[in-house]
Amino acid sequence: MADISFLFSWLNVLQREVLRRRMLLTGLLKISEWAVFGGWLILLGLYVSGMFTSVSLLLELGETFGTLAFALYIATLIPSMVRRLKIRELFPIMSMFLPFRRQFGVLMFITAFIHQSFTTMLPALVLVEFDFAKFPSPLMARQIFGYIAWWLLFPLWLTSNDLAIKKMGKWWKILHKLTYVALFIIMMHVALVGGWNYVFALLVIVIGNVVGLIKSFYGKKS
Ligand code: HEM
Repeated sequence: MADISFLFSWLNVLQREVLRRRMLLTGLLKISEWAVFGGWLILLGLYVSGMFTSVSLLLELGETFGTLAFALYIATLIPSMVRRLKIRELFPIMSMFLPFRRQFGVLMFITAFIHQSFTTMLPALVLVEFDFAKFPSPLMARQIFGYIAWWLLFPLWLTSNDLAIKKMGKWWKILHKLTYVALFIIMMHVALVGGWNYVFALLVIVIGNVVGLIKSFYGKKS
């Protein structure tokens, strides 16, 4: 079997480097939140003013933002899965992702919002030339699942701050378990879009968590 120990030592180095730049990376993630939202506002203005009319550009951008939202969503799930799995060699991954989990979640929520607006809301408005009397157009199942997932993630986004953690106590953790309900809805959403790679990634997360839970159950018994 190939010796993969070099991979683990490389992971340790990466973890050290990432954690050394924790403040900088957190700052960059916060700036990205405002930057993507600002960019969205500018593009929205260009479409509302009629300067831009291309629906295909919107759909292309929408897909990119969907992929981005998905990657960030996975990044929020990785630390808990690795912690549950209790594989020591993978712990550097957990410590690399954990300090940024809140910012990943907030950015994911914003990018998912932009994703829906570019794939669904704005193209529909452009097609009816912003005649709100002809809006909203009926939604397809994949869009409905997308919206359900987004609204499920809404209270999580709203409570992703120190004040909410302090005020909510143990309810904060319980509320944030909603992310696993959203996982199955997102799985339906991407399956209906035909994104089987995304479904596979989510299944890996589900299996990882189930294996981790089984391990801790038997660990407690023995
Ligand atoms: C907020 C409501 C949402 C709506 C209305 C929505 C709508 C859509 C639509 C219409 C597509 C198909 C795009 C196309 O093939 O042209 C799509 C694709 C996708 N969506 Fe969503 N979505 C929503 C939320 C989400 C969320 C919360 C996530 C993940 C965090 C997500 C991840 C994706 C991904 C990964 C794709 C595939 C992109 C690709 O083709 O590579 N969506 N969505």
